[in-house]
Amino acid sequence: MSNKTFLSGLISCFFSSPVGIFLFGQKAINSAEPRSACDTSGSMSSETWVNFLYWGKYRNTRCCSLSLFRSMGRVLTEILIWFKWLLLTRRQGSLVRCCFIHCAVLFPAQTSAGPAQLSPSLAGLSLQSQTPEALRVVNLLQERNLLPPGPISPPTPCLPQDLQKINCHPEVFRSTLTSIPQTQSLLNKAKLPLGLLLHPFKDLTQLPVVTSSTIVRCRSCRTYINPFVSFLDQRRWKCNLCYRVNDVPEEFMYNPVSRSYGEPHKRPEVQNATIEFIAPSEYMLRPPQPAVYLFVLDVSHNAVETGYLDVVCQSLLENINSLPGDSRTKIGFITFDSTIHFYNLQEGLSQPQMLIVSDIEDIFLPTPDSLLVNLDECTEMVQDLLKSLPHMFGKTMETQSALGPALQAAFKLLSPTGGRVSVFQTQLPNLGVGSLKSREDPNQRASAKDIQHLSPATDFYKKLALDCSGQQVAVDLFLLSSQYCDLASLGCISRYSAGSVYYYPSYHQQHNPAQVECFQKDLKRYLTRKIGFEAVMRIRCTKGLSIHTFHGNFFVRSTDLLSLPNVNPDAGFAVQMSIEENLVDMQVVSFQAALLYTSSKGERRIRVHTLCLPVVNSLSDIFAGADVQAITGLLASMAVDRSVTASLSDARDAMTNASIDSLTSYRTSVLTIQQPGLLAPACLRLFPLYILALLKQKAFRTGTSTKLDDRVFAMCQLKYQPLAYVMLMIHPALYRVDDLTDEGALNISERTIPQPRVQQLSVEKLSREGAFLMDAGSVIYLWIGRNCNPNFLTQVLGVPSYPAVPQNMVRNTMLPELDTAESQRTRAFIGWLREQRPFFPILHVVRDESPLKASFMQNMIEDRTESALSYYEFLLHIQQQVSK
Ligand SMILES: *[C@@H]1O[C@H](CO)[C@@H](O)[C@H](O)[C@H]1NC(C)=O
Ligand SMILES: *[C@@H]1O[C@H](CO)[C@@H](O)[C@H](O)[C@H]1NC(C)=O
Ligand SMILES: *[C@@H]1O[C@H](CO)[C@@H](O)[C@H](O)[C@H]1NC(C)=O
Ligand SMILES: [Zn+2]
Repeated sequence: MSNKTFLSGLISCFFSSPVGIFLFGQKAINSAEPRSACDTSGSMSSETWVNFLYWGKYRNTRCCSLSLFRSMGRVLTEILIWFKWLLLTRRQGSLVRCCFIHCAVLFPAQTSAGPAQLSPSLAGLSLQSQTPEALRVVNLLQERNLLPPGPISPPTPCLPQDLQKINCHPEVFRSTLTSIPQTQSLLNKAKLPLGLLLHPFKDLTQLPVVTSSTIVRCRSCRTYINPFVSFLDQRRWKCNLCYRVNDVPEEFMYNPVSRSYGEPHKRPEVQNATIEFIAPSEYMLRPPQPAVYLFVLDVSHNAVETGYLDVVCQSLLENINSLPGDSRTKIGFITFDSTIHFYNLQEGLSQPQMLIVSDIEDIFLPTPDSLLVNLDECTEMVQDLLKSLPHMFGKTMETQSALGPALQAAFKLLSPTGGRVSVFQTQLPNLGVGSLKSREDPNQRASAKDIQHLSPATDFYKKLALDCSGQQVAVDLFLLSSQYCDLASLGCISRYSAGSVYYYPSYHQQHNPAQVECFQKDLKRYLTRKIGFEAVMRIRCTKGLSIHTFHGNFFVRSTDLLSLPNVNPDAGFAVQMSIEENLVDMQVVSFQAALLYTSSKGERRIRVHTLCLPVVNSLSDIFAGADVQAITGLLASMAVDRSVTASLSDARDAMTNASIDSLTSYRTSVLTIQQPGLLAPACLRLFPLYILALLKQKAFRTGTSTKLDDRVFAMCQLKYQPLAYVMLMIHPALYRVDDLTDEGALNISERTIPQPRVQQLSVEKLSREGAFLMDAGSVIYLWIGRNCNPNFLTQVLGVPSYPAVPQNMVRNTMLPELDTAESQRTRAFIGWLREQRPFFPILHVVRDESPLKASFMQNMIEDRTESALSYYEFLLHIQQQVSK
């Protein structure tokens, strides 16, 4: 019996009762209970209803009244039933004494995904799979505090539990929509972007590694066997991407984990959505390359002046034995100013030999065979060089910088093997190929309507990067500078060779100790983190879906193949998708990312991630599965592209439009009761806030004076950082920390970590009596109110009073280690925040009159500024557009 038939049966049954008591019903409807009452009882099953019906007839029920609400895309059918007990009323001679029972049941508006049409294993995809909470209607203009108290967890795809349990972890692989629309036209209607966000080489504590002479893949589409394939019997499996039926190879019948035979579905490959294979020789085009590291160091006057060489050399000396690699690892150094200097580190020399090439027009390698040396064999020579380098150029007056030729030299040196180039640059290159001119006019920063020079000034760096990519060479750029360096041009060298960019504005050994500490910590992570060489990544998806635009640092070699000469655990990627063929008759679709790389130990490995998501055919289901953080992350990447190809203002409009359009679609196509206000489903309630935050982010903001390089760097980060860090850049987390308690604290390995509530980013939330911590990803601010609780000052900061709080406590990026409960709690909390990311965020203590106060306040994105709307004003703006 379908819900509809059932319902009309119910109605006709009750309507056969005498009239007269109908009035009661009317009255009751008018004073209907709050909607929430319906929501909570929404789980009532139809079985309960049948019982009611039977009982009602038995007791001679006289009337019922019925009201229909359409809400959140479903028909909320509220049925009010009055049971009139005739015997009772007759005796009393009136109709007033009634007993009434009120209850409600939820019928979905679209019943097409009813359980009957699903195969038994997918029956779990039925009604209860849609979490009502995600679709709770929120009037953004009324509900002010939308932030959950703690971290925001991604939505869980509506899959049967056994599938969801083994699905890929959202930190590694997630989709903007956890329910995939059946057709492109449905997707277009939702006005939400469809894409994937990946963190494929993330450091994992648990990773199953499989060694096997045959890696089982689909013969037709080359998909790796995964937990979402189906076994037709013990000998055949059906691909979940192209549906071809494949044979199970004999070897796969044996399970190395359980050491049993005949249970192919229990192999780790079909139990774990993330898995790594050690690849046999057919996955190699050439013998796996050794780990090769080349350091290219700016030694011009400007560079020496910043003092960065000390830090690099010291850090390398400390970590030389922790560089990932094996006995084949090679290392080399190039320094440059107006000339290029090579270092012969060959065994047998008494000391490193410097070879200067002054012909920068046509770079050649003076002694090609002795410039890259085996690290094990030549450790002492390398250490000698690292000890003397910082002093060798101490008195230099050379101001010119031939970065382009130095990069050409690096490319030549690494071409035969592939490897990693780490470039340290402190100024605008001004000599030889690739030299650049300053394009920034500080006077135009604030006034210009549109930002110029976001695209490269020359294609030299991109071309060289593509050459590097072809030879499996990646270039990482460390930019340490106090002046404009044209990151928009220089960054291309890393972007297309799959490198990373690090940027330390105003770097100076003496004047900016916080930056120095940050650089040191970053370097340590950089030198010691995992690395994969000569890598490619391919992303496949179920037939009907198509991947089109990629975001991150790489070169797209063919439609779905990314060339990654190096891959590192801190790199994120995003892709956009479209639906080419209707996904009818499909309950689920899958996505698979396969990363083939050479480990630093010379092993060819394949890391495979598979994500499975349900297909839905109603707008309300699409909205219910929306992942607001993933959507924001993908939109940010798209907006960066748009700023470069069109203009910044265009990109800003596009982001605002994205929130307007999706909320309009929600209002007109999902909501059926029109109510005043700006309405959003609960799962998208933070969408306008995040969009506003993006508009105020360094990458996209207008009005305030943002340095061009700062802006471009923010754009780079939005494109290649994993989503978790991007979200902190966009919407920092604010906590009150002067009253930390152990209540609700996390207890991790004998440490108690307080969990203060996340506060809204508004000055309203600050209090002069308090101390507030703002976690913005790469920076953490500790703001101390003027009348801050003296207990906090003494017990945590170790100062007697507010005026004694160091004006700019940057010299000490750690809090003093005091032996007080308050100090321990605060440090435990900050330490815990820092542990959650691989880079080292600096801690700035900010006083009311600190110069850094402005940076802190700029993150108060809910407040109005001279050039930007407050959150409430922004909501009104969106509301106006939505109701048009
Ligand atoms: C792989 O999956 C199995 C079964 O789901 C699970 O017990 C095991 O812990 C997983 N292995 C890893 C390393 O996650
Ligand atoms: C934003 O929407 C408005 C109104 O629909 C439209 O005129 C404008 O072109 C859109 N802008 C962008 C960048 O999409
Ligand atoms: C952790 O320990 C603290 C104090 O020992 C306690 O107050 C707190 O409730 C504990 N937290 C949890 C989640 O158990
Ligand atoms: Zn296939």
